[in-house]
Amino acid sequence: MNPIELESSFDYTTLRGEPETIQNKFKEIISRAPRNNEWTSFIELFQYQGFWHSPSFLEGTILAQEEFQPHPNEIILCSAPKAGTTWLKALAFSILTRSKNTLNNLEPNPLLSSTPHECVPFLEVDLFQKKQTQYPQIPLIATHLPYVSLPKSITTNSTCRIVYISRDPKDVVVSMWHFIGNIKTCKNNEESAIFPLERAVELFCEGISKNGPYWDHVLGYWKASLEQPDRVLFLKYENLKSDTKVWVKRLAEFMGFPFSSEEVIEDAIQKVVDLCSFENLSNLEVNKNAEFNLFSTVKVKNNKYFRKGEVGDWKTCLSEEDRKKIDRISEEKLKDSGLTFG
Ligand code: A3P
Repeated sequence: MNPIELESSFDYTTLRGEPETIQNKFKEIISRAPRNNEWTSFIELFQYQGFWHSPSFLEGTILAQEEFQPHPNEIILCSAPKAGTTWLKALAFSILTRSKNTLNNLEPNPLLSSTPHECVPFLEVDLFQKKQTQYPQIPLIATHLPYVSLPKSITTNSTCRIVYISRDPKDVVVSMWHFIGNIKTCKNNEESAIFPLERAVELFCEGISKNGPYWDHVLGYWKASLEQPDRVLFLKYENLKSDTKVWVKRLAEFMGFPFSSEEVIEDAIQKVVDLCSFENLSNLEVNKNAEFNLFSTVKVKNNKYFRKGEVGDWKTCLSEEDRKKIDRISEEKLKDSGLTFG
């Protein structure tokens, strides 16, 4: 398949609708669900189908589970928060929309003037909760939903493909703790209260984190990738960092948009890698200063999606005790799965 034009026939407006019964279902679930607001008082988490969600994401999840109909060529980018979502969105978007002109800066490239989150919407929040339609009309959608909670229209009898990115849980919890400490309310710019990293680790290890338990999130997609390797590609942030070009080539093939031999000669793969690198994206004006409404009530500066982008930053802040605790859980949870982190 050739990379596609931004104006395709894919129409997000067919995804909208909000029957009252679904609203009632949401209210009913929220009223009974276990809840926790220790990460931040701004975002209370609710447990649904074994995983923890913020109310906005949960409302959109319930709607998406009932109503979402994927395009037959849809590519769904899945991740737990802080595992590399922003990077994966940038890479997949640039693979799908690349042209000689955009890669050689002869035509404007949306990734240079918009954040990756404005290029690829989240299914459960941007499309179904906020009902936004301004996204590029391409069959690329992201989600933080665990595999068990994906709409059945994605997991059953569908031809769409799934790409999952995982990351060492030690880096995920550190990244999440920094991120949560940097959000603000939309109303009066009130900042999230300072919250000890040790407590964040405890909660994370208990499975209480946005879209956690993290290990169950990863395992759901790992198993799906073993069962359906043609439909589910499982990536590791660490491999993508150490061998970016190899994995970008593999990602493009899996997505059905392989680089042609002409593109390989012109080094198009390296151009995609460079365009989406942490150094490039984090230095763009849009990613440095603009603000982003995470939910209707909470906002975050775009630069908070680009903190360090390193493997092993946990070494700078996790205690030996916390490292051991997280590694022990990884060992227990991943035992016999064939999966290791890092
Ligand atoms: P750190 O906080 O460890 O720096 P998500 O996109 O899922 O919210 O994850 C955010 C993490 O991915 C942050 O990690 C961020 O710095 C990192 N990241 C964002 N863009 C990246 C890129 N282009 N390359 C590598 N890492 C990136």
